[in-house]
Amino acid sequence: MITLGNGANEILELAARVFASRKHEIIFSEHAFLVYSLVTQAIGARGIETPSTDFGHDLSAMLEAITPRVRVIFIANPNNPTGTWVNAAALDAFLQAVPDTVLVVVDEAYREYMDYPDYPDCVARLSRYPNLIVTRTFSKAYGLAGLRIGYAVSHPDIAALLNRVRQPFHINSMALAVATVTLDDAEHLRRTKRVNDVGYKQLTIALDELGLRYIPSVGNFVTIDVNRSGEEICARLLKKGVIVRPMARHGLPNHLRVTIGLEEENEKFIRALGDSLT
Ligand SMILES: Cc1ncc(COP(=O)(O)O)c(C=O)c1O
Repeated sequence: MITLGNGANEILELAARVFASRKHEIIFSEHAFLVYSLVTQAIGARGIETPSTDFGHDLSAMLEAITPRVRVIFIANPNNPTGTWVNAAALDAFLQAVPDTVLVVVDEAYREYMDYPDYPDCVARLSRYPNLIVTRTFSKAYGLAGLRIGYAVSHPDIAALLNRVRQPFHINSMALAVATVTLDDAEHLRRTKRVNDVGYKQLTIALDELGLRYIPSVGNFVTIDVNRSGEEICARLLKKGVIVRPMARHGLPNHLRVTIGLEEENEKFIRALGDSLT
């Protein structure tokens, strides 16, 4: 069953609020989307941050971290800001091992950028795992972040609880109308993906030339090791009119994340980055 949200963000926050409290624990990975730890703090639950492997989610470490107090586990697939992802075999083994008293939220915000055959479609897995919530959004590949519309797909019992707690008037009719039309616009999605694939190649070739390491990404961003304070390089880039994000709060003080743009935007970023490093 579908539950709409004011962005997927609202659903992530609702999942924590509905299923956990101050007595409980919530698991998320190191370098994962920051909202998981923020919503955990907001409800006063204890966050358990498990170590990553190669910047990605370590599902074995997440399984081992489960205690009787754990109520929710967040998994971003793909993850922001690392652009890493979990394949179907690994996710299925994980879901089979998680106790059914623990809710697993698989956040598929970047799923439209994926074209790997072993990327797991979690909506197709709902009948097997009733403790699963899948969240999706129109903010990324559909380009509608400002309209604030996302959704969850889950077992009807879970949807009923989410719907009971959410604000009654959380979605606006403009977002609903545009999202409905966009769903039918396959060409828009194909174009976005093409621009992203070309931009990823353009950026990573230029990063190789600059001698900078980056985390291989399947998303619409690249997280780059600038080999010195990411905050400082971001401040220099800002003075050149380029806004990128430092990654210190994600446990990556020497990294920054750039969103893949149009060819000329990527070009401007690369030039400004090269100048900022000298
Ligand atoms: C992994 C991930 N999940 C969820 C979201 C939230 O998206 P929105 O609330 O715009 O739908 C984001 C946005 O940055 C994200 O990166």
